[in-house]
Amino acid sequence: MKEIVPAPPAIVHNEQQAIIGLFEKYVVPSYGRFELALARGAGSYVWDVNGKRYLDLGGGIAVCSLGHGNAEITEALIEQSRKLVHVSNLYYQEPQGRLAQQLVKHLAPGKVFFCNSGAEANEGLYKLARKFGHDEGRFEILTAVNSFHGRTLAGIAATGQDKVKKGFEPLVAGFRHVPFNDLEAMRAALSPATAAILIEGIQGEGGVTPATPEYLLGLRRLCDEKRVLLLMDAVQCGHFRTGRFQSFQRIFEGVAGAEGFLPDGVSMAKSLGGGFPIGAFWVREPFADLLGAGSHGTTFGGTPLGCAVALKILEVIERDNLAANARELGGWLKAELERLARTYPHVVTNVRGLGFMVGFELAEKEKIPVFANGEKSAAMQMVNRLHDVGLLTIPAGNQVVRLLPALNLGRAQAEEGMQLIEAAVRAIA
Ligand SMILES: Cc1ncc(COP(=O)(O)O)c(C=O)c1O
Repeated sequence: MKEIVPAPPAIVHNEQQAIIGLFEKYVVPSYGRFELALARGAGSYVWDVNGKRYLDLGGGIAVCSLGHGNAEITEALIEQSRKLVHVSNLYYQEPQGRLAQQLVKHLAPGKVFFCNSGAEANEGLYKLARKFGHDEGRFEILTAVNSFHGRTLAGIAATGQDKVKKGFEPLVAGFRHVPFNDLEAMRAALSPATAAILIEGIQGEGGVTPATPEYLLGLRRLCDEKRVLLLMDAVQCGHFRTGRFQSFQRIFEGVAGAEGFLPDGVSMAKSLGGGFPIGAFWVREPFADLLGAGSHGTTFGGTPLGCAVALKILEVIERDNLAANARELGGWLKAELERLARTYPHVVTNVRGLGFMVGFELAEKEKIPVFANGEKSAAMQMVNRLHDVGLLTIPAGNQVVRLLPALNLGRAQAEEGMQLIEAAVRAIA
């Protein structure tokens, strides 16, 4: 007798919609997400669930310092997880001590506290400032207009952008914002209650704006004069992204009189763990013991696993000379973008940044005919166009598109990325 085989079910293969459906139903909608579901990555490429490949010049917003699927990170994770994944900070363990030692070696004498994110690293700096000023009744922290310091309650109070504060009032007290790169404005803003100044060496979310050397040197002098802490948020611009460990080291290259410059505290995260969540802040020596036993802590701060990964990343960056790569290839990307700005000045109006933190500014949406009628900002529309041609970049504000690639990006990928950007800009122009 002939067997009756039922027809196979129709292949419904729309994983992307299914994943988006899960988010719509179960994930708090606090992020504006692109219609893109990523499944895997290798080096500076990622693939979406439909198998489309993208060149990733966004690096997970400056996180994936060694790119995706890095075998040495995987090995470090496996090796350390066989020994010890987590121990409480009630005890000592070697990876945390060794990572602190490395960070101090790269920066200057001082000590390090470990946490889990950039916002949390900054929280530690706010507490350091409060502790520093406490006995004199000083508590205020001055930050810059257009800065970004994270999404915790104190983070949004510290951030110099109204859009992150809206709806969350009353804000944590004790933060005021002062125009960036304006030393006189900072001097005028200081009050008897000021305990610290906090700035990014290069404003990232604010649109890739580097601090000038004069500003940094002036802030240091001002802080010394008024006995105020100078704190730097290096969450995005740090960890060799600019071609030096810290952005200020790069900003000061060739600047006479800047050799001894040091902030009093530096927050870090993002590239430090290459995708494994870890944050930290460094405190300069004279203030390194201000946060004494019982004054600050977090369960997951500086786990052996996170620290082992961060140590491996530092080792690879040094061994493979990735700071030089960020400097040279980043310089090439910037020069190419500047060429685009000269060729298409009605589309690309400005290029800023250092190393692998580069941004190109687009003309106002209304001045770019193909963008004028779109609902989204010029930056978002550009980023979407680049997605269509297989390139990931990151918007900053309404008009800036950022490149924050892996530190081990190759020349061929940089060229591929530039070709895609140039084609998109040409099409718009
Ligand atoms: C300069 C800066 N500080 C702090 C943060 C917050 O870091 P996280 O998102 O890890 O809390 C960010 C994130 O983009 C940042 O760019």
